[in-house]
Amino acid sequence: MRLSIANVLTPEECAEIRAKLARADFVDGKTTAGWHARLVKENEQARHHDPEARRVLDLARRRLLDHPVFVAAARPKAFAGLLLSRYRPGMHYGRHVDDAIMGGVRTDLSFTLFLCEPDSYEGGALVIEDAEGESEVRLPAGSLYLYPSTTLHRVDPVTRGERLAVVGWVRSFVRDPLAREILFDLETVRRLEFERHGKSDVFDLVSKSLANLLRCWAED
Ligand code: NI
Repeated sequence: MRLSIANVLTPEECAEIRAKLARADFVDGKTTAGWHARLVKENEQARHHDPEARRVLDLARRRLLDHPVFVAAARPKAFAGLLLSRYRPGMHYGRHVDDAIMGGVRTDLSFTLFLCEPDSYEGGALVIEDAEGESEVRLPAGSLYLYPSTTLHRVDPVTRGERLAVVGWVRSFVRDPLAREILFDLETVRRLEFERHGKSDVFDLVSKSLANLLRCWAED
């Protein structure tokens, strides 16, 4: 399942982050790519110990773990990694698959949290390939795109302006994408039922099924 999630950060927060990151220390993105991805990775990322970058990544982590849609879709057990990437004109990240294990943690889902408004730069689309073709993703500042780490994907060259994003990887409590989708749908149904009829009998039974399916499928 792929999902766009709006308003993980507000436009004001993104503007503030962009201003602060103008002073942050960025290095060649190849330092964190696997040996084959390194061949096609031409971007920059904030240095791990840069204090501004750390503050931004901590804020992103907190917001994601508090976001009901992200939590329902990803069922995050841990972040396998989180970094700030920057693309300036001419930079891109060619087609690759993300490493299956990062720092000893399995990657089930990948995400990009866009920090720049789409009209402030040209190019730089996240492109995901699958059997049905290619999907291009360019979201407003503060929006996140969540997709399976199993896909081939790339970031097209930026031809004007600057593209800043938080990118990250999630180890999910639920490994099977179909199981995650069923849980996500049931969570959606449960919330709709609650909005319409409160804590009804239907709500209670769906909640019970959801909790028990999660018990069946979660790897803790
Ligand atoms: Ni990638």
